[in-house]
Amino acid sequence: MRAFSKILVSSAASAAFCLPLAAHAEGDLEPTGEWSAYQRGNADLPPMGWNSWNAFTSDIDEEKLIGSADIIVKSGLAQKGYRYIDIDDGWWLHRRTSDGRMIIRTDNFPSAAMPDGSSSFRPLTDKLHAMGLKAGIYSDIGRNSCGQVFTSTFPNQPEGSVAEREVGLYGHIDQDIALYFKDWGFDLIKVDACGIRGLPASDPKVQSGQYRALKPLIDVDSLGRTDIPAVQDLYEQVRDSLEKYNPDDDFVFSLCLWGSADVRSWAKNVGNMSRTSEDISPTWSRLLFNLDSTSRRALYAHPGSWNDPDMLYLGAGEFDANHLTQARSHFALWAILNAPLMIGYDLRKADPEIMKILGNQDIIALNQDKAGNQAVLAFDSSDAQIFVKTLANGEKGVAILNRTRAPLEAVLTAEHLKFLSNAGIDLTDLWSGKTMRFVGEQKFTLAPQETLIFRARGKRILPDGIYLSEQPGIINPADDGVVVPEPEPVTYRALTPWNGTRGTGEHPRYGGWGGAQADSTPYGEQLAIGGKRYATGLGVLANSRLEVRNEGYRQFTAEVGVDDSARNRSAPVTFEIYGDGKLLAKSKPQSFGDAPQTLEADISGAKILELVARSPAETLQPDTVTWGNAALLK
Ligand code: GAL
Repeated sequence: MRAFSKILVSSAASAAFCLPLAAHAEGDLEPTGEWSAYQRGNADLPPMGWNSWNAFTSDIDEEKLIGSADIIVKSGLAQKGYRYIDIDDGWWLHRRTSDGRMIIRTDNFPSAAMPDGSSSFRPLTDKLHAMGLKAGIYSDIGRNSCGQVFTSTFPNQPEGSVAEREVGLYGHIDQDIALYFKDWGFDLIKVDACGIRGLPASDPKVQSGQYRALKPLIDVDSLGRTDIPAVQDLYEQVRDSLEKYNPDDDFVFSLCLWGSADVRSWAKNVGNMSRTSEDISPTWSRLLFNLDSTSRRALYAHPGSWNDPDMLYLGAGEFDANHLTQARSHFALWAILNAPLMIGYDLRKADPEIMKILGNQDIIALNQDKAGNQAVLAFDSSDAQIFVKTLANGEKGVAILNRTRAPLEAVLTAEHLKFLSNAGIDLTDLWSGKTMRFVGEQKFTLAPQETLIFRARGKRILPDGIYLSEQPGIINPADDGVVVPEPEPVTYRALTPWNGTRGTGEHPRYGGWGGAQADSTPYGEQLAIGGKRYATGLGVLANSRLEVRNEGYRQFTAEVGVDDSARNRSAPVTFEIYGDGKLLAKSKPQSFGDAPQTLEADISGAKILELVARSPAETLQPDTVTWGNAALLK
């Protein structure tokens, strides 16, 4: 039993923002024999489609929406997988106070006007469904919308009395979800969170009587000032209603918490896709910022629950037809990270070159590969990065990114791909279709901000098995051992266009530092036990439990121990492997500096493995531990 539990700020504590307060079930290290990441909903593959926000902000209407939907169908993009047509902020007129029913802005959506004077999106969703598409809607978890709280100069703000302008889900979760899914027939909902972020009693908009106060549950600048359990609870209520009104599971639940509220640790249990950062804008530095917020979270994405670095901005600003290198980079990177591919472009004015990028079948196939492995960073630096994604057939997707504004030389090695260095490796360039072969390593010259993207075939280092770090899609950090959620210091800190250099700059904000990692320690160092380094393995904190799906492998093997980067070192760590809830193997207690211990287990027939690292240490800073070369063998 763990002495320390995860420390979160609960509703009760948040008034005084006092720590500690245990809100994390003590039993999280106990094996369950189950896979606990989210599997309901319709998101076995990253959802693809179109969303109105980047193209139109809240200036949205039926003509614009159907215009883009038409082109998605006619251009063949729908056939390639872009199916969801999502309305973002701007559709609502008000909430009817007599019965709480939401009323649509029928001036902008004429088909929603019913003969009896009421409004319904059913004709619109029927139309989209008849076109072979799916329909998405947008709401906020608070009482008020993002437009009302942050961008009230944008058009189509809700109208009426204070109560009528309360268009968010707060207090109406079940009623609204029933209306949107059962009555109106939507297939996706994006749930924003401005209403629980920006309306404290002290806000001038509240003081002037424009909106009711809602004590902020989220402070994006501070995990300590965020009431994480309360935020999670609200989103779980939405999930429950979605399941209730969609017994066929034909829904997608898209969480939009911009990486706040420690959402990385729990969104994977609650919904189908979850934003990892604030909004993207069409600039290179915002691309890096959004990319970094997702790129070290590979173990937190699985079929059914994806990391969302925000919608595509192809077609605008630094990703428009005059910046095709950057536009291609944006698309390739989002694809290899298993990001939901949501076009944010007015397709009625689309440039053919941008359409060609969005329609690149080979890159879409990489994104939609059924194994669902988010790419892992095989090489990391501030200048160049190499992302490698293991595909269902054992081939690899590889993207080489030049983050800089100057040309760059990059060498791709067989080791990056976990292929043998003495056998030929075939690369297919997914932009040109050209193929090439190399042995050992290959040098490339990249243009500024270019991303090369290939499919690679070679001889795998492990011929009769898989390294776990190659397969993040089958690993769920059910408990990653993080006691106090900490912001990630390694995310690129871009200027926000809406703040510029006002204030003191962008501080680390996004929770996730110390989370489980593939081929790296939780804090980004190289894996090592007792002086032995590992290029391959899982890095996690002590007092953690990783769930692993096993499809037919018979043997588990790993070299385990306390990582050389551990700082606490006060107590030994024991490593255990369970198969369908039964203990299969257990290590001797390992202390800091001990040589790695080989741990093997017969896993024949077991469907869910659990890798538990246990320590009696009572500490806020658990030791880092390493499952070196962890692999499943035939
Ligand atoms: C933001 C959200 C954007 C967009 C916008 C609408 O909070 O991140 O994607 O939905 O609100 O006002």
